[in-house]
Amino acid sequence: MKELGLSPVWVRRHGSQPIVPAQADVGMAAQAGGGKPLSPSADSRPTADRAAQLHAMDWMELKSSASACTACVLHNARKQAVFGVGDEKAEWLFVGEGPGAEEDERGEPFVGQAGKLLDNMLAAIALQRGKNVYIANVVKCRPPGNRNPEPGEAHACEPYLTRQIELLRPRLIVALGKVAALNLLGIDATLGSMRGRLHHYRGTPLIVTYHPAYLLRTPADKAKSWEDLCFAVDTMNALKQQQPAPN
Ligand code: URA
Repeated sequence: MKELGLSPVWVRRHGSQPIVPAQADVGMAAQAGGGKPLSPSADSRPTADRAAQLHAMDWMELKSSASACTACVLHNARKQAVFGVGDEKAEWLFVGEGPGAEEDERGEPFVGQAGKLLDNMLAAIALQRGKNVYIANVVKCRPPGNRNPEPGEAHACEPYLTRQIELLRPRLIVALGKVAALNLLGIDATLGSMRGRLHHYRGTPLIVTYHPAYLLRTPADKAKSWEDLCFAVDTMNALKQQQPAPN
């Protein structure tokens, strides 16, 4: 917890976080309850053909398709697409918003300051990048000036994340920040209203917490993100009890 900047040390209380299911979350681009539906511009909607092609790809094909993708304007300024990183059999999936300058340079998500904090957040719950954890973003190419991805850009990129999730089949998704949460859940709601509840992305349990870059700017909310991480660990343990891994 020192790494997260939390002092005095916070200790998890067993059973202190009830798992509260949120209603009617369905998945990216779905029109779910609990907020206003997102409406991407029609011209950037993935065509059925393109989505079907990506849907049939394995990890290597998908990654190479992302690196050559020109489906939205973000490809114009990227150095490289930042596909995702980690254990392709991971039970945990962390989803951010989109690559920044350092990620664009290095081709790996969350390698800048926010990434260091994410690594510390993972360490706080005994996880490590690459070991039972996969990290991806809503958009694979850097939005110029580190702006938020436009809804149309997120929508054009959606089949990549959807297919990553299909291939990975994580037990639990952690959405980092509002952009990730809104795009995965297909709703427009405040981050505060989405925290502390169990959502679902196409049947996969999903928890929402703050984006590490926000926590760097607002360290007072690190305590709340610790609550979210504890909730995520409790949820993961409950999910494992409900459905132990096959031998
Ligand atoms: N912020 C994100 O959302 N993703 C990254 O990969 C880096 C910073």
